[in-house]
Amino acid sequence: AKKIIIDTDPGIDDAMAILMAFNSPELEVLGLTTVFGNVTTALATTNALHLCEVAGQHAIPVAQGEPRPLSGEEPLPADFVHGTDGLGNTNPAAPSGRAHESAAVDFLIAAVNKLPGEITVVALGPCTNIAKAIQLDPSFAKKVAQIVFLGGCFFRSGNVNPACEANVFCDPKAADVVFTSGADVLVVGLNVTERVVLTTSDLERIGNSGTKFGRYIAEVVKFYAEWHLKSDHLQGIFVHDPSAMTAAIDPSLFSWKEGVVRVAETGLCRGHTLLDMGTKKWGENGNPWVDQPKVKVALDVRAEEVKRLIMN
Ligand code: BDR
Ligand code: CA
Repeated sequence: AKKIIIDTDPGIDDAMAILMAFNSPELEVLGLTTVFGNVTTALATTNALHLCEVAGQHAIPVAQGEPRPLSGEEPLPADFVHGTDGLGNTNPAAPSGRAHESAAVDFLIAAVNKLPGEITVVALGPCTNIAKAIQLDPSFAKKVAQIVFLGGCFFRSGNVNPACEANVFCDPKAADVVFTSGADVLVVGLNVTERVVLTTSDLERIGNSGTKFGRYIAEVVKFYAEWHLKSDHLQGIFVHDPSAMTAAIDPSLFSWKEGVVRVAETGLCRGHTLLDMGTKKWGENGNPWVDQPKVKVALDVRAEEVKRLIMN
């Protein structure tokens, strides 16, 4: 099985992706690292511990991550999307476990140094922890097997505003550090995840599946579905983080375009992700897309197959 560390801000779709990972024989979860985004980092840690306990995975280490973006600004949680508890206001049981003794950045660095070339990081929140690991350990980008990042929106509108997607918006600088690090990065953005929709009847099927996880997800997802109805007039939900988990399991369900991605760090388009499609550019004058490492961006998805994997 592929060894993964999940960097996450649970978060309703994060919860789905985490439970999915625990149930995927293709993946071996070595640990969770937490980050602000949907909730504060402290609450992300509580929720990550809770989810491990829901899954009966009491031995999985949960390492607490950075409390704020590289810029040092105070983050603003997305309670209107995920509820004040991050899990759809379901009032989750307080976990009995505690966070790992190492902070997320140290946990990530130690893991890739212990098993160079073997660990994939599935990043489901702002990628502050990963950017810091890259900055602190110059060998990190080459030692991590792959980074699968849920973030960005390519050639279409974002979900924060027309320019940007939430995970990149929350720490644009961190996303730029990861994209230009030279690591093997797969970027799964809204342009594909908004094509993976679980409809109201799919969610009912999950709830009625007779499994503990199915019932759990069906409860947690209600608040998220209400948000989608209000914001997108959608009878169902976009499946962001579980789609990224699917890319970690089977990247062949997506089409990838290799190119340099840069992120606007400030201004009106703060958080906008721009992929160079490879047409001839002015090479001089400090063009920010020239002589940078490339990443692979998902431009197409076999949505029905991704959805089937997630449902299963
Ligand atoms: C991303 O932002 C969060 O709300 C979700 O958990 C997902 O990771 C989608 O833009
Ligand atoms: Ca997330």
